[in-house]
Amino acid sequence: MAWREAVRCIGRLHWRSLQVVDARSLEDADSVYDACLEHLRRATRDGRIVPMQTVFAPWRGTEGGIRIWNHQLLRYAGYRGPDGLVLGDPQNVDFTRLVRSLGWSPPANPGSFDLLPLVIQAGGKLVVRDLPREAVLEVRLEHPEYPWFEALGLRWHAVPAVSDMMLVTRDEVFPCAPFNGWYMGTEIGARNLGDTGRYNMLPRIAEKLGLDQVRDRLWKDRALLVINEAVLHSFERDGVKVVDHHQASREFLTHCDREHEAGREVQAEWSWIVPPVSASATGVFHRLYPLRPKLPNLLLQVAAWNTPEGARLLKRFARP
Ligand code: ARG
Repeated sequence: MAWREAVRCIGRLHWRSLQVVDARSLEDADSVYDACLEHLRRATRDGRIVPMQTVFAPWRGTEGGIRIWNHQLLRYAGYRGPDGLVLGDPQNVDFTRLVRSLGWSPPANPGSFDLLPLVIQAGGKLVVRDLPREAVLEVRLEHPEYPWFEALGLRWHAVPAVSDMMLVTRDEVFPCAPFNGWYMGTEIGARNLGDTGRYNMLPRIAEKLGLDQVRDRLWKDRALLVINEAVLHSFERDGVKVVDHHQASREFLTHCDREHEAGREVQAEWSWIVPPVSASATGVFHRLYPLRPKLPNLLLQVAAWNTPEGARLLKRFARP
């Protein structure tokens, strides 16, 4: 039901299929780590992705609360060089610096897609642990028509597993309740790889396409199309579940109809629901949505290291 009410999610038609793992009895960081690996294994299923949420102990207002410090279970490191340029994902530069201060070392040859370790707070401890390779499914990106695309060396992880939001019910708050669905292609193709503040691949792709970035006024649009084609094609090639934005839009509108029939109106944030490419070619663009969030829900919370306990743990375990 919390997923059903998540105002930024276009994928909510499938809310009834969520598998929920009750991990409320786990207390120490090691078992939380193990449960996260188990979550990834059970959710990935070699690409036949299952939406899943693992729910750890609720907030009790005391020390020893559980938090996963990572934004997602799977994320790539970002390293800012002395020249100011970033290798990897610029979104994770600060977090990468934080995990390094906690003792994590990047691979001997740092790359653009180095998986970050999990940082887990539990039982008054903070542990940093790498993910075993076999728990992580990734997709190498190629384009069905352009042989040069593969040489760009792009890849992405198969499972989006948000780990820093809280599950809030009428009477309890679960600050650690990682959940996953499957990707909509544009999350990767348009935003993660296309945004100027992320991997910023549009200029490189436009160049390969032989586009003139001054005279061809729609060069970015062409590059976006090609990179999004590559994402959908490559996920399908590997049998990894992915949805395109047109289908996701149709499914969301079906969800709205079903909710209406059930006597509920879907609450949603328009700017998050509408896909980042071809917006007006999708149905979700052409209407507005009420926005009065209901409980239970999945909500943002303050970054773990900015909570009193998190700040104390960071001071104790970080070296300058
Ligand atoms: N947009 C985020 C990303 O690109 C993932 C957010 C959740 N997405 C999902 N399809 N469940 O990693």
